[in-house]
Order: sequence, then structure tokens, then C-alpha cells
Amino acid sequence: MVVEKVGSNSMANISGLRGPLWWMQWAKRGWAIAAVGFAVFVFALSVASYYRSSEPESNTANAFHRITTSDLIDLTLLHSAKDRGALCLDGSLPGYHFQKGFGSGAKNWLLFIEGGGWCNTIESCILRKHMHLGSSKHMGRRVHFTGILSPYPDHNPGFFNWNRVRIQYCDGAFIAGHPDNELKNGTELFFRGRLIWEAIMDELSSFGLSKAEQALLSGCSSGGLAALIHCDEFRHLLPKDATVKCLGDASFFLDEKDVLHNPTMRSLFRDVVNLQGLAKSLNKDCVARMEPERCIFPEEMVKNIKTPVFHVQSAYDFWQIQNTLIPKASDPHSHWQKCRLNIYNCNSTQVEILLGFRGSLLKALNEFEKNKGGGMFISSCFIHCQTLMTEIWHSPKSLRIKNKIFGASVHSEHDPIAIDIEKEGVWAKKDWAIAAVGFTVIAFALTLLSNSWRDEPDSEISRPFLPNAAAFDFVDLTLLRNAKDRGALCLDGTAPGYHCRKGFGSGANNWLLHIEGGGWCNSIESCSWRKGTLLGSSNYMDRRVPFSGILSSHPSQNPDTVMAHPSLATGKMSLREDVLQHRTMRSFYNDVAILQVSFDLYYY
Ligand SMILES: *[C@@H]1O[C@H](CO)[C@@H](O)[C@H](O)[C@H]1NC(C)=O
Ligand SMILES: *[C@@H]1O[C@H](CO)[C@@H](O)[C@H](O)[C@H]1NC(C)=O
Repeated sequence: MVVEKVGSNSMANISGLRGPLWWMQWAKRGWAIAAVGFAVFVFALSVASYYRSSEPESNTANAFHRITTSDLIDLTLLHSAKDRGALCLDGSLPGYHFQKGFGSGAKNWLLFIEGGGWCNTIESCILRKHMHLGSSKHMGRRVHFTGILSPYPDHNPGFFNWNRVRIQYCDGAFIAGHPDNELKNGTELFFRGRLIWEAIMDELSSFGLSKAEQALLSGCSSGGLAALIHCDEFRHLLPKDATVKCLGDASFFLDEKDVLHNPTMRSLFRDVVNLQGLAKSLNKDCVARMEPERCIFPEEMVKNIKTPVFHVQSAYDFWQIQNTLIPKASDPHSHWQKCRLNIYNCNSTQVEILLGFRGSLLKALNEFEKNKGGGMFISSCFIHCQTLMTEIWHSPKSLRIKNKIFGASVHSEHDPIAIDIEKEGVWAKKDWAIAAVGFTVIAFALTLLSNSWRDEPDSEISRPFLPNAAAFDFVDLTLLRNAKDRGALCLDGTAPGYHCRKGFGSGANNWLLHIEGGGWCNSIESCSWRKGTLLGSSNYMDRRVPFSGILSSHPSQNPDTVMAHPSLATGKMSLREDVLQHRTMRSFYNDVAILQVSFDLYYY
């Protein structure tokens, strides 16, 4: 019955939208809305129950997320960079966030390099000029220091009082690119990674890094690769008697072929190496022995690094599963689609292949395991980057591994595909709090990711690697001009903002308004906290956001929001379930567009 109503909704009536007939049509459309509404309601319930179930004791959760602004750290632009030509891809100054150490940590330094993939083509580098990954014009002016960067002893007992630096990554090539490779034909792209590295080290040295007693160079994903590439250089900058280590989080990229046996990952690295001249930044012995792109893979890199290294890695790192093992191109018929988005959806054949991938990781780590100075934490979370996540790094939710099994290989009894390996380093017991990660966290992370990824099939923006440059459509922030006079202000008194892309063609008179989410504040403290974030102040809003999904300007990604599918207009619909789902989703888009029009008319 519902289907019939949906089917009878000839979209030809859209032309009568503003006439009296419109309300009659609207009544019919109500059925469609009801059907969609129900689906949305069920969906909302499941989302709500997820949020509730993931935070079982909201009191502890609240106590845990202390409401304060002291972990929001300002961006510092590297001013010495201009004279030295140490510039982001777009020619702007690189930046970092720095919090001074104190007490027993005053002479210790923790550097954390932000991740964010890389650019392997001219187009993808140009795309980065419009994002924080290629330009400080788009960097967050304040970031939270969480996990390994947290300033609270109970969240971060090992490093809370160290000098902590979060380095923004804006050269697209592991802070290691070479200006010799810049294009000489008018394409404005700066390949200054090496110069950025040197400029940042000089600036931090002048703040006391050169006199450090203990130092850790760390990073997530491609930032972790940058940490490994620069690890020994970093060591040499510091006093001989200092304890210096490096940490790669989710940076153990494997030199593995994809499910179609194509060397996807290796060819990606080859393109980055060639584009930005990385060979000059890699280990010379390695480059002499093999193709330079192979020397970026950590399994080769660690053979040459003399400084102790710690790896935090998941055997089922979701980035690697989605890009190394099962890149989209290797799955033209979408047989892997469900599995690659959530490993709980994999069938037994697919799990075998994932186990094989895990086997390759363990094999690659085999050599490294003999390295007495190093350490590793290998988990089975479907996750990518863990050290900045306070819940995983050190929290009541983290399960401790007992001291007696610490330092040995531990095969989890709970989960047949889980393996935790923990090796002791110099800071092991006290500082590698990561050992606290346990089965609950694995389960927690799996739920978290399975929930947050299920509904975003391949949303490119949430993935660290951005291959389809052309697919992005950036829209500038507009501040509401007359807001001030009317007193229409954000929590902190700044003008509210929106991003608007003008309609065109047959959509020129149709409007889609999409309101951003972001929870709410239920206490004076939590409202005050928002004043320091984009949820309470336009000072912190992104100045440009990509329009994707329902906001996309590309017809292929965002099928007509107003024109219906021909089969809807003719009412030829079958009752088959898949067809129903497909059409309902489409009419959901239609009705959202029209609902917003009516809202629009009413409001003005
Ligand atoms: C510059 O050279 C690169 C590679 O040689 C090419 O892809 C690009 O289109 C050129 N740009 C211009 C503006 O000619
Ligand atoms: C698992 O799924 C793949 C892809 O859909 C299929 O080829 C394979 O036969 C399935 N294996 C099992 C055991 O169902």
C-alpha cells in the first residue's frame, strides 16, 4: 500500500508546488514521508541506542571528559619558515601546536606528527592546497591534546608533563619532499618537506629540544611514517646521553598485493617518491639496494633505523584493509564491500584472506621482534591510529595486561583472530600505557567503528587517503551579516555561519538546508567549553568544507533531489524488497528537499 502511494506520486506535480494543488499532493506525499519517517525513526533509535550503549556509565564518562579548555592548544605558525622557503604545498607557513612541559617533564619532549595520507599526483597535491593538509590557511587554529598528548596525569601518566608538540602535516609527502622536484612550468606547488622538517627542528631546539633528557618522536599513519623517516636524524639533534625513541602509530604499511594480486600500495608509494623526490630523504644503503619506494615500507626502514622504535599497529588496520588489501578498484563487483567496511560482516572465505594479511604483518615484524631496544603493541581492533584516543590510550575502559605476561607474546583466548604482542622497551612498564589496551577496548572499538562506518560507505573525506581529487567541492563559510544587529549569536557571541552553494538549472529555485550535528550542552561548563570549539563559536568553524553526499554538486554522487526516477512517475513499481528500499531512499531525498522548501517559505 505504501508502495502504491509512493508510485502514484508523479513528479510532474512539482511544477504545481506553489499552487493550491500543492497541499493535496503533499497529503499523498505524506505516505511516502511516513514510510521513510519510520525507517529513519528505526535508524535513529539504533543510532541512539548505540550512543547509549557505548557510554554505559555516563557519570564516569563525564568525569572522564573533563570540561576544560586547557587541552585546547593554539596553532603556532613557523615564522622563520618564510626566509628558509620551508612552505606548505600552497606556499603558506607550516604550523604546530605546542604545550610547555613542567615539573619532572620540563626537559622531556614528545613530538607527534599529524597523519593525513599523501598526494601521489599533481591533481591530488593541488586539492590539498584547499585543506589543512596542504595549507595553514585551513588548519584548525586550536586543537585538543588528547591521548598521548593529554595534559592530565590520570589520562597520560607517562607524558602529561612533557613538552608536547603536535606538528601539522602540510607537504603531502611525509615531511620529506625535495624542492628540486617542483614543477617548473607554472603549476604552483611547493615540495618543501625536508625544509619544513629542518625549520621545525631549529625552532623547537631554540625552545629547549636540543637539551632534552628524554624525547619521543611519534606520529599517526603517514605522520608515523614521517617519524620513522626522520627518526635517526632526530636522534642526532639531541644530546648523546638523552634517551630518544620513535613511535609509529598505524604506520606499519605493508608491501602487500591486493586481492587481485596487483601491487597497489607499492605503486602508490612509487608515485609519491617520484613526484616529490623522496629518495634523497631515505636511507642511502636501502636506496642503493632496491627501488626507493620499497625503502618507505617500515619493514625495510626498521632494518636501518638505529634508534629504538615502538610500533602501535592493528593487524586489521582499517585503512590498510580498505586501501592495501581491498582497494575499491580490486572489487569491481562489490563482493567485498560489506566486509571491507566492517570486518564483522566478512564471511569465512574473506576472514581467511584477512588472516593471511595479519600473517604478513606478523612475518614482517618477525625480524624487528629480535630488536631488543624496540617494542610493539599489535592489536586486532578494526582501527587506524590509537595513541590520540584517550579511551584507548589510558582510561577506565582500557584493560591492563598483567605485569607477568607483559613483555611476552600473548595470544588472546577471547578472540580467535586476536593477537597481542607486547615487548618491553626502556619506558615499558611506566610509560607505554598502551599495554592497557585489552579485549573490552577491542570490542568497544569494533562497535564504534562498525557503527560509524556502516552508514558512510566510502565517504572519501573521512578516509585519510584522498585519491579522487576531482570529487571534492569546497564551499566557503559565510558569516550571517545581519546577525549582530538582531542579536542572533553563537554561544560565545560570534556571528553564526553557513556554507551555501547556489542552485542552478532546474534546481535553481529549490533549496536543501542541512543542519550540522554536534550534540548539545546541558550545563554551564559544557556550554562554556563549546565557546572554544566550532560548536559554540564561528572563530573555530572550518572556513571551507567539502560538500558531499546529499550536498554534493555532482549528479553522479547526488542523484536528482527533485526529479524522480521515471519508474516512480509511471507508478510501475513491484513489491520486491530491494526495489522498495531503493525507491524509498530516493523519495526520502525528494521529500527532504520539499520539506525544506516549505520551511523556507514559512520562515520568510
Ligand atoms: C606541468 O607539468 C606537469 C608534469 O610534467 C603536467 O602534468 C602539468 O599539467 C603541467 N602544468 C602546466 C600548467 O603546464
Ligand atoms: C564469501 O563471499 C564471497 C564474495 O561474495 C564469495 O565469493 C564466497 O563464495 C563467499 N564464501 C562463503 C563461504 O560463503
